[in-house]
Amino acid sequence: MTTVGIDDISIYSPGFFYPLEDLAHRHGVDPAKYLYGIGQEQMAVPSPDEDIVTMAANAVAPVLTADVRERISTVIFATESGVDQSKSAGMFVHGVLGLNPNCRVVEFKQACYSATAGLQFACDLVRHRPSEKVLVIASDIARYERNSEGECTQGAGAVAMVIAKNPSLVEIHPQSGLFSLDVMDFWRPNHRDAAYVDGKLSIDVYLRSLRESYADFCRKDGMPLAAIEKLCFHQPFTKMSKKAFAALREAAGAEADHLDETSYAESQAYGRQIGNTYAASLYIALASLLDNCAEDLGGRNIGLFSYGSGSVGEFFAATVRQGYRRRLRTRAHRALLAGRREIDYATYVAWFYNSAKSAEDRVCPEETAGRYRLAAIDAQRRVYAAARNLELNAAACP
Ligand code: COA
Repeated sequence: MTTVGIDDISIYSPGFFYPLEDLAHRHGVDPAKYLYGIGQEQMAVPSPDEDIVTMAANAVAPVLTADVRERISTVIFATESGVDQSKSAGMFVHGVLGLNPNCRVVEFKQACYSATAGLQFACDLVRHRPSEKVLVIASDIARYERNSEGECTQGAGAVAMVIAKNPSLVEIHPQSGLFSLDVMDFWRPNHRDAAYVDGKLSIDVYLRSLRESYADFCRKDGMPLAAIEKLCFHQPFTKMSKKAFAALREAAGAEADHLDETSYAESQAYGRQIGNTYAASLYIALASLLDNCAEDLGGRNIGLFSYGSGSVGEFFAATVRQGYRRRLRTRAHRALLAGRREIDYATYVAWFYNSAKSAEDRVCPEETAGRYRLAAIDAQRRVYAAARNLELNAAACP
């Protein structure tokens, strides 16, 4: 069978962050709760001229080689924070980046899970037609009510993955364990900007979903855990990986004896600085693992768990390809995060809660540190443009 998987991966997160230590002081909470209890240091904050489309375009631009442009047959855009009830956010990205007109473009939704459906469907498309490449994009702004328990887990970011045969980075194995359960742990009715969430229930359902998905994976003769050396979990906040690991270890028994906290530690580095990115979160964790693991992971196996409230869980396995480091975008990803500017509380509140979510007609002043921006909403049409200061921004988005 043709080997299929992720041939390229690129992440983007806004050029501004708000430190959680400051949020803890504002909330009268011990900063140690956010830093260690939740496991988050910073929250990425989109400027008012950024949204899921501009973040996605910034993530996609670096992977658009001439070959990728020519061979893309399908663009799958996974998101919880869609900007239109009808038009796929991927269509805006298609327009902004001038993608091949002879391809299909769709949007997938199932809370934080949908990018995994996108990845699996993309792999099957490529297995069926190996000359094609599929672009899977996940982009989200994770927004909860102000002063709620979820506020400290907020964040924003995007990931772009090129799915192809004989991939340079990781092979995705076809067996996966699945578990779906209709439950109200997190949801966002159409009229709402912030999600409703039952935080404790969402953690319980996440862990049940992991156990059930893993059991299904074992029943389907998925890769034995004994052959897996690294783990990546959906990571709404980095402490969740620790909880997930404990649950998996208990479920797997002796098969997990060789695994410990170092098996997923590198996958937490980017998320700790960015915050939750819903659909993008698992794949930003994967990029974090590949970029930050000091050992060469070539030939080694990774177990991945994807979860989206509501709820769907999927456990699957991947094998890192030999020579994968040549294809990584580690320098660009690190430069992106290192180059961000800290903003104060007033700016955070104005941007996260007032400007960025508004759907009113307006002209957006240029604030973004990225390459693409929302220039205006004109007669309820979203107008996107290249940022003026492209040269300055090239350092942030190589
Ligand atoms: N120092 C160190 N740790 C501290 C602390 C302190 N001063 N105070 C509290 N903590 C720890 C708690 O012990 C707890 O750790 P544990 O989960 O390992 O037991 C952790 O910090 C969180 O404390 P808790 O009181 O449970 O937090 P909370 O009631 O404010 O809510 C969430 C936490 C995750 C439920 C909330 O942020 C939320 O609703 N998030 C959005 C939903 C979500 O992300 N769900 C995940 C599954 S998808």
